[in-house]
Amino acid sequence: MKNYDAAVSYIQTKLQAVPEVGIILGSGMQNIVGNITNPVVIAYEEIPGFASATAPNHAGTLIAGELRGKQVVCMKGRFHFYEGHAAEDIIFPVRVLWLLGARTLIVTNAAGGINQSFRVGDIMQIRDHINLTGTNPLIGANDPRFGGRFFDMTHAYDHGFFALAESAAEDCGIALQSGVYLGCTGPSFETPAEIVAFRTLGADAVGMSTVFEVIAASQMNMRVLGFSMITNMAAGMTGEALNGDEVIAVGNSGGAKLQALIERILEKL
Ligand code: HPA
Repeated sequence: MKNYDAAVSYIQTKLQAVPEVGIILGSGMQNIVGNITNPVVIAYEEIPGFASATAPNHAGTLIAGELRGKQVVCMKGRFHFYEGHAAEDIIFPVRVLWLLGARTLIVTNAAGGINQSFRVGDIMQIRDHINLTGTNPLIGANDPRFGGRFFDMTHAYDHGFFALAESAAEDCGIALQSGVYLGCTGPSFETPAEIVAFRTLGADAVGMSTVFEVIAASQMNMRVLGFSMITNMAAGMTGEALNGDEVIAVGNSGGAKLQALIERILEKL
């Protein structure tokens, strides 16, 4: 069992306030931390029990402070299953954010668009997810501190936040898409046949993160808001091959829109 107390105590020695909102920054979202006032920056490697992020463009730091009137703690850099991290290490920071006091979690990611009406650069509010990683991060001994063994996922993505996000998007002049995120392990992108299958299953976007974190957050009854930035149309949809570098570049250039949306949401929370 991981030692949560050591991580929480260490972070608490640095924090100036109790965080209300945890934010996991996906590719291209990292600049949001520049707007945090009086930021406290803690490198993951300093924190007992934190793994280190190896994915491109995912620096490993926790940044806490005030953003648009809310006390936030941002994960700049997240852990992916494809990096070889154990599922329990991927959810460790989410549990730590909760133990620190965060009861709302905003998760963001880059994703491939499966819904044919989506366009590259769109932002999709995650209405629900399909975990197709083949595993669950909560397999193993249950730590009752975080919730029950069996728990509801009906409202994993807080329905009460859907309208708030839509109105924040309207304020920002963003046409917000809404849909189901399907999480795979990666690191290979999908085959065109898989994408056809995923569309049949009801998925609107596909990515390699998020589902483990949201499962852990659900167990703790955190209110979750999720957003995918559509960095590319999924495999087989355009006739072009997928290119990992291009996906990252689009994520970086499209990040400002999602950043504006999240800041507006924080104002409205
Ligand atoms: N597939 C999986 N993960 C992704 C994609 C994709 O097409 N784009 C960005 N992350």
